Amino acid sequence: MRIAFIGDIVGRPGRKIIKDKLHAFKKEFNIDFVIANGENASHGFGLTVKNCDELLKCGIDILTGGNHSFDKKSDMLALLETKPVLRPDNYPEGVLGSGVRVVMVNDEKLAIVNLMGMYSMPHVENPFNWASKLVEKLHNEGIKNIFIDFHAEATSEKRVLHMMFKNRVSAICGTHTHIGTDDLQIDEGTAYVTDVGLTGCRDNVIGMEKEMPIYRATTGLNGHFKVPNACKSILQFVVLDIIDGKTIEAFKVKSYCSSHEDVITKAFVE
Ligand SMILES: [Fe+2]
Ligand SMILES: [Fe+2]
Repeated sequence: MRIAFIGDIVGRPGRKIIKDKLHAFKKEFNIDFVIANGENASHGFGLTVKNCDELLKCGIDILTGGNHSFDKKSDMLALLETKPVLRPDNYPEGVLGSGVRVVMVNDEKLAIVNLMGMYSMPHVENPFNWASKLVEKLHNEGIKNIFIDFHAEATSEKRVLHMMFKNRVSAICGTHTHIGTDDLQIDEGTAYVTDVGLTGCRDNVIGMEKEMPIYRATTGLNGHFKVPNACKSILQFVVLDIIDGKTIEAFKVKSYCSSHEDVITKAFVE
């Protein structure tokens, strides 16, 4: 199977570039299934029912989340019950929803897993121990194709998950920092990238208007981040070819709104 994963979609500019380009990319690259992180898709904070429907119509099959999953709480509670929407699985017991979904892609099972790190994040259960139990359970159920969106701030946490689960899951793709890293690789059949990077505005600060981040940085005072009305945008995603639980080929696509040429980078295979 060939799947694609889009990192954090930030606000209207992110939704717009997906609407403009995703259908064509799915055709061009013969993509069977699309996963995207939607925690910032609505005004930069959370995901509304309306925007979720819009993204699913654009060709996204399932949306993952992170620390902003519940920013539009009533919408998210409805989405978790009715739509292909995940929130990090390691939220404490009692929180609505799930971070695991098993779907059929080309007559094969694919498990999509969403986990959240601990550094600079809400108080969730230990993602590493959580993942150990979860992956073992999926393997016991005979599920080999396992994709993990690890939503974490610390690069070291992402590397730890990679070292723990290479050869046991198909892919670990990082989200949350909104800045893509250039370390896409395949190691013992597991694709890994520390962060896919945002889909949205690229000429600001992590997809947000620069004024408030500069104010916060220079005064130490807080304020509300806003998604710009107009900006230069980018769509970025990874494509993974998975056979029998192993990723055999992977590449990253960066598509700029201001250029007709996309930047495509192949994964390094260890
Ligand atoms: Fe994010
Ligand atoms: Fe996040």
